[in-house]
Amino acid sequence: MKKERILVTGGTGYIGSHTVVELQAAGYSVVIIDNLSNSNVEVLDGIERISGIRPDFVQADCTDINALKDLFAKYPDIKGIINFAASKAVGESVEKPILYYRNNLNTLMNLLDLMGPNGVKGIVFSSSCTVYGEPDVNPVTEQSPIKTATSPYGNTKQISEEIITDVIRSGAPFKSVILRYFNPVGAHPSAEIGELPNGVPQNLIPYITQTAIGIRKELSVFGDDYPTPDGSCIRDFINVVDLAKAHVKAMDRMLEDPEAEPIEIYNLGTGNGVSVLELINTFESATGVKVPYKIVGRRTGDIEKVWGDPSHANKVLGWKADTPLADTMRSAWAWQCKLRERGIM
Ligand code: NAD
Ligand code: WQD
Repeated sequence: MKKERILVTGGTGYIGSHTVVELQAAGYSVVIIDNLSNSNVEVLDGIERISGIRPDFVQADCTDINALKDLFAKYPDIKGIINFAASKAVGESVEKPILYYRNNLNTLMNLLDLMGPNGVKGIVFSSSCTVYGEPDVNPVTEQSPIKTATSPYGNTKQISEEIITDVIRSGAPFKSVILRYFNPVGAHPSAEIGELPNGVPQNLIPYITQTAIGIRKELSVFGDDYPTPDGSCIRDFINVVDLAKAHVKAMDRMLEDPEAEPIEIYNLGTGNGVSVLELINTFESATGVKVPYKIVGRRTGDIEKVWGDPSHANKVLGWKADTPLADTMRSAWAWQCKLRERGIM
């Protein structure tokens, strides 16, 4: 049976593109809206090479309500939305807070505003483990306390969760699933799509792969004096394809399962904490490629350790992140090599 049409905002981005592929595999038809502020239109070719289906694409800005109205007029059968579109660089958000509040919050509010009148049944929202700040206890569950945000970016995620909650509580005629991602890493195993960082990467994995291929001289490991077993920070690195699949489960449940609550929140992580040094070792042994690194001082604002308890998603969504970390590292490396092959970096 043909499934419904889904609007994927930010669908040419890193997590969005992997999710489009999984939505297509599950039979959904997809229309992407993206302003290409942090992605590239060629991503559509990558998606098509994997799935054999080119998703419909609208190049527009989600903060432009008229552009969204035009989109809904053109595609009156949209039944679900996945809202990836957002600015996501933590450091930049400290420098340009208004840009972050405007982009991330206006995008969400425009979508929420237009859902009812256009008969959209549900919205999946990309939130983040950043809402837990530095947790008192690991792994964190969905009931763990929400800590004061340490960046405007993090604050947009907290405020977005509150906006969605208020809108649903007001009796909106649709449902929502809030997904709190831990650290998404890796690329599609085909190496047709992956993460395309702008400029010098701020995140660990792109820095590792760019160092391994020789674009960067060495990786700086930010601190080895944390009270963790090897002194480096601990994170929950989740494979991006596993993460993408969770969105399909969330969409299925929201649109089809009468037992789905009006608003549901899920942690999307592996349940395992892995240190920065362990991750470097895993990358090296999985790929056979060395990553030159040096230990430097701590990065301001870094969380010492955080990993998620995904058992709620495991149980209710019937989803589990099960790709071995070594496979994920090989996929990240294959993607970096593909970028080199194509002369991109
Ligand atoms: P990304 O930058 O690769 O993708 C976001 C996409 O949205 C980009 O293609 C960008 O061009 C587009 N976009 C941004 N603002 C837009 C607007 N106003 N209108 C239309 N398109 C717009 O980022 P990602 O890593 O794929 O992240 C997707 C979502 O997941 C974001 O909301 C992010 O905050 C959230 N998230 C990401 C991580 C992570 O580590 N990557 C972790 C937790 C949460
Ligand atoms: C991971 C670990 C660094 C780079 C960020 C956002 C968070 C979420 C995910 C969206 C840390 C260490 C890194 C480097 C290093 N995004 N590191 N050298 O900080 O966990 O989370 O992305 O919601 O909100 O804050 O991810 O990849 O930047 O860092 O040693 O060159 O790697 O100190 O311990 P982080 P990251």
